[in-house]
Amino acid sequence: MTSLQGTTLPAGLDDATLQQLSGNLTEQQLLWLSGYFYGRYAANTGGAPPQAAASVVAAPAAAAAPVPTITVLFGSQTGNSKKVAKQLADAATGKGLKVEVKDMNDYAGRNLAQEKLMLVVVSTQGEGDPPVSAEELHQFLFSKRAPKLPELRYSVLALGDKSYVEFCKTGRDFDERFAELGAQRILDRVDCDVDYEAAAEGWIEAVLEKISSEFAPAPAATAAPAASAPAAAVKAEPAAVNYSRKHPWEARVLESIQLNGRGSSKETYHLELDLASSGLHYEPGDALAVVPVNEDPLVEEVLKAARLPEGESVDLGTERLPLSAVLANRRELSVLTRDVMERYAALAPHAQLQELLADTKQLQPYLYGRDIADLLTDFPTELSAQTLVETLRPLPSRAYSIASSLLAHPDEVHLTVGAVRYEAFGRRKQGACSTFLADRVAVDDVVKVFVEHNEYFKLPQNTDTDIIMVGAGTGVAPFRAFVEERVELGAAGRNWLLFGNPNFTTDFLYQTEWQQYLKQGKLNKLHVAFSRDQAEKIYVQNRLLENSKEVYGWLENGANFYVCGDKVRLGAAIQTALTEVVQREAGISAEAAADYVRNLKKQRRYLEDVY
Ligand SMILES: Cc1cc2nc3c(=O)[nH]c(=O)nc-3n(C[C@H](O)[C@H](O)[C@H](O)COP(=O)(O)OP(=O)(O)OC[C@H]3O[C@@H](n4cnc5c(N)ncnc54)[C@H](O)[C@@H]3O)c2cc1C
Ligand SMILES: Cc1cc2nc3c(=O)[nH]c(=O)nc-3n(C[C@H](O)[C@H](O)[C@H](O)COP(=O)(O)O)c2cc1C
Repeated sequence: MTSLQGTTLPAGLDDATLQQLSGNLTEQQLLWLSGYFYGRYAANTGGAPPQAAASVVAAPAAAAAPVPTITVLFGSQTGNSKKVAKQLADAATGKGLKVEVKDMNDYAGRNLAQEKLMLVVVSTQGEGDPPVSAEELHQFLFSKRAPKLPELRYSVLALGDKSYVEFCKTGRDFDERFAELGAQRILDRVDCDVDYEAAAEGWIEAVLEKISSEFAPAPAATAAPAASAPAAAVKAEPAAVNYSRKHPWEARVLESIQLNGRGSSKETYHLELDLASSGLHYEPGDALAVVPVNEDPLVEEVLKAARLPEGESVDLGTERLPLSAVLANRRELSVLTRDVMERYAALAPHAQLQELLADTKQLQPYLYGRDIADLLTDFPTELSAQTLVETLRPLPSRAYSIASSLLAHPDEVHLTVGAVRYEAFGRRKQGACSTFLADRVAVDDVVKVFVEHNEYFKLPQNTDTDIIMVGAGTGVAPFRAFVEERVELGAAGRNWLLFGNPNFTTDFLYQTEWQQYLKQGKLNKLHVAFSRDQAEKIYVQNRLLENSKEVYGWLENGANFYVCGDKVRLGAAIQTALTEVVQREAGISAEAAADYVRNLKKQRRYLEDVY
């Protein structure tokens, strides 16, 4: 063994031999080799080279770099895709790969032509729409201006939810359009359902493996230090105890109050849950995911329709449980989704089932209002208990916008839950989670929960910034949290709430709290729209238009604009009304006003939490 600058070398390899071996190499070749050996180092140790060593051989960018920089491009509405993008960047950096993380919101489409290696992580929103932050790039990609991409290698991870008919549509769009433009997949797209974590990890591992095997190792001396910077630029999640679908917190119910008065057409509950000793942290704008339990009558309907006895036990991989317990706690029964129809159709040979699946326009109305019992009744077939359980979808949690501030209620989380009840296809039906919370959970019972952080639906960092909050029905929930938080922080920014619901006497949710805040000057403006209190329907969008001068004034003064509530009825109506406000008050064309509103969204000053 010989020693070189304090390092023990293998026998036969000493300083003189190394000098001799490298004597005829050009500067470029030396630089490449230094990077190559650093790549080997990183691959063997599973990490980037130590800082001191990296500085010895720091190579200029001109050095040959066989693995191109990986651009990780994410499009995210609530932060899941961003989280996965950061995870991917960390894993790539760990392998000594050079990576840059970019938000679609800030990404100019024309840069695509320069990309060599791109990994896309994108969710789907609305009914198969891109997240707001991805809208512009998505539009550009499908326009005539989209460049050809023959140089690009790529892969897409699509985040979504199988309960939507247009499952992972935006991810599919990116994937297919890149291919149409001449780009080549380095790995096939992976589509993720709500519990995306395992699938995302698998994709990250596989795609990095593929990149490592297809490209020559990069000179890690240049790669590693540069790689950590952009990845680190993505804000880290706050350190908190990591509860999840698999490891929820069992929160005790402290309070459950019906908020609507007698005779209301609505049924809304205010719930207070105990977080003491949980270590669970949330911020206003986040949602609480609740794990529901299906109601007994629905479990019985499903058993009856499947003609199966409840006591039969089924194998869930790690445990055997009675069928009725699995149906109550582990499988989605109240909502029928395309993936379940597809698996069921493979077992039940009904021509009409195939026809429905072949035509989304027919499928969507079929699914709406139908549940698993309806499917089993409409298309009967012989199924074992085990097959039924394997055909159904794991029971997903439901999200509820958090209605409290931890500063105002340490160790508590409050929710505003509207009970879903309706009649369809000859049966009385109830939403699984909302009626679980409304009917089947009492004070002192426990509910399984975890936080779904919403990265973007947040109060402005600058507490001097004004906020306009537009909420209808349970859409008022996050605004209660916003105002509580701003009061606790002593924020100087003004707060304006526009709230809508059917009737003043029965549906003015949190009325006394708002009026108290108003009296104390903590809520600066309050406008209400009770749609059914007069012959002519009045909604929050009418209030926006009636106050257009002030709304525009607040926006011009830098206010953030928030919308929460019904996706179909509220989301689009408010955007239209705000565009009209801007057109009228700025005296500009409809197109220019639409641009103004679009810009607010891009700047993340117009924020939506619609469902
Ligand atoms: C980010 C986010 C925040 C949310 N915040 C809140 C909140 O603060 N408060 C709140 O109450 N909800 C909130 N929701 C909605 C909530 O997550 C649930 O979707 C809602 O409670 C219904 O769930 P469920 O389990 O009770 O109903 P499910 O069992 O999921 O049943 C709902 C399904 O029933 C069908 N259906 C419903 N009504 C009818 C009808 N009239 N006719 C035919 N079919 C019908 C539809 O197919 C619908 O998808 C939020 C959702 C998201 C994504
Ligand atoms: C209002 C709303 C609409 C959604 N629409 C769809 C959809 O049409 N298709 C789909 O696959 N997923 C849909 N999803 C599910 C999201 O894509 C999924 O929650 C994803 O994990 C969000 O990732 P993000 O936080 O990066 O935006 C929707 C979610 C919400 C809240």
